[in-house]
Formats: sequence, C-alpha cells, structure tokens
Amino acid sequence: VTSALDGLFGLLLLVWGIRAFPSQTKVRWGMVAVVAFLVLEGAIGALLVRLDLVAQNTSLARGWVQGLHLVNTLLLLGALTLTQGWAHGWQARSRWWREPAARSHLLWVCLLLFVGAFGAITALGDTLFPTSSLRSGLLQDFDPRSHPFLQMRVWHPVLAIITAIGMAYWAAAHLSGRLRWQVWLALLGQLLFGALNVALLAPIWLQLLHHLLADITFVTWIWAGVVFFGQSRGNRTTLEAG
Ligand code: HEM
Repeated sequence: VTSALDGLFGLLLLVWGIRAFPSQTKVRWGMVAVVAFLVLEGAIGALLVRLDLVAQNTSLARGWVQGLHLVNTLLLLGALTLTQGWAHGWQARSRWWREPAARSHLLWVCLLLFVGAFGAITALGDTLFPTSSLRSGLLQDFDPRSHPFLQMRVWHPVLAIITAIGMAYWAAAHLSGRLRWQVWLALLGQLLFGALNVALLAPIWLQLLHHLLADITFVTWIWAGVVFFGQSRGNRTTLEAG
C-alpha cells in the first residue's frame, strides 16, 4: 500500500511540476529523476521477490540487492531535495564543481551511500542470524567461519565513523549557523543510535529510528550542498535562513 502511495505521489508531483514550471527547467528534470528513482525502487523490490531473495534466504546476492535498494532510496531523497532547491529558485554558482569543497562534498555523498549499503547488509545479518548477547554477536563478527553478512558487519561502523568525522569537519569549514548544527546533530545522533543498536541487539523500534535518521542525515547533507554551492560568496546565508 505504501509503495502504491509513493508511486501516486510521484506521479502527482510530476504532473504538478509540468504544469507549474516551463519545459527544460531543472525543476522538471529533477521531477523526472524523482519518478525514475521511484520506478527503480519498485523494480528492485520486485527483483527481490522474483529472485526469492526474501524470508530466510541467506545468499550473498540478497545482501547486494538490499544494499542497492537502500542506495536507491537515498538517491531518490537526494533528487527530491535538489528539486526542492531548484523549485525555490536556487541557482548553482558557475563552475561550482571545480571547487575543492565540491569534490570533498561529493566524496562524502558517495561514502554516505556506502555506509547506507553496508548498514542494509548489517540489518540483514541481524535479522537472519539473531544473537542472544552482545558478546556472542561480537564473537560471530570476528569468526572466519561466520556467514559473510556477519563478517561484513564490522565495516558499517568503521566506514560510518570515518564518514561522520569527514562530514563534521566539512560542515565546520563551510557551513554556519543552524545548518551546521543540523548536520552535526544528525551525525552525532546516528553514531549514538548505531552504538545503541549494537548494545541492545537491534530492537525493531531502534532500527526504524536509525533508518529514519539515516534518511534525514542524507537529505540534510544534500541541502547543505544546495546552500553552500547555490549562493554567491557574499550572500551565502540568505537561502539558509529561508
Ligand atoms: C553516519 C552514521 C551512520 C549512518 C548514516 C548509518 C546508516 C545505517 C543504515 C541506513 C542502516 C540500515 C537500516 C535498515 O536497512 O533498516 C543501518 C543499520 C545499522 N547500523 Fe548504522 N549508520 C551509521 C552509524 C552506525 C554506527 C556508528 C553503528 C555502530 C556503532 C551502527 C550500527 C548499525 C547496526 C547494528 C545496524 C543494523 C540494525 C538496524 O537496521 O538498525 N551504525 N545504519
């Protein structure tokens, strides 16, 4: 039901966008991208069912497809955020992509996608091989005889901590005011929720919170890019305030 609603809202957005914005504008292209990611999201979900990568299936293929599913979700949210920026009249500075800050921002976007993909594999490992205590869970992670999903679990927090430090540093150097705090708080919250997930053996309510905050972190990060690269150097805070 929620997937069907998603599709419906995507189509409504596209129809509204075509009516409200002239052709060849970035807003329209953004909306087309949103709908394309929505279709892909459905296709990946269908692939999981079609290949029987569900229930107790422990094949590696399931891990990769789940990871891809999560990356697509984040890209969909990123496309929505950019479209929102364009719809509000944001214009990127010319040659923004040549700036060193742009390269580092995009690097953290890519790493955040990897963190998400490894998170999805971690969640799969937790679901397929539930453990009764923190100690036995950690022993599983470092046992060479464990399933690869369990051995891979260690990469998620390692990558997440490196990425969070890099992003926090970028935010300190390039953002100011409320937006900088939003990035910092989202990252800090994610690190805390992640650690709590490990300690409490990933109860469903915490998995949901951790997933939700991952989405919020990604959207905040893309919006940070919109704000930083979308204003002239002298007037960078105007959009942030709006
Ligand atoms: C920037 C920081 C982080 C981000 C963006 C992030 C993102 C994610 C995502 C997207 C998932 C998959 C959720 C799902 O498919 O339902 C996940 C799962 C998980 N993450 Fe993280 N994570 C971060 C930090 C951490 C840290 C530092 C730890 C551990 C110390 C951690 C532990 C876990 C665990 C145990 C799971 C599996 C249980 C669950 O689904 O919640 N995460 N993470």
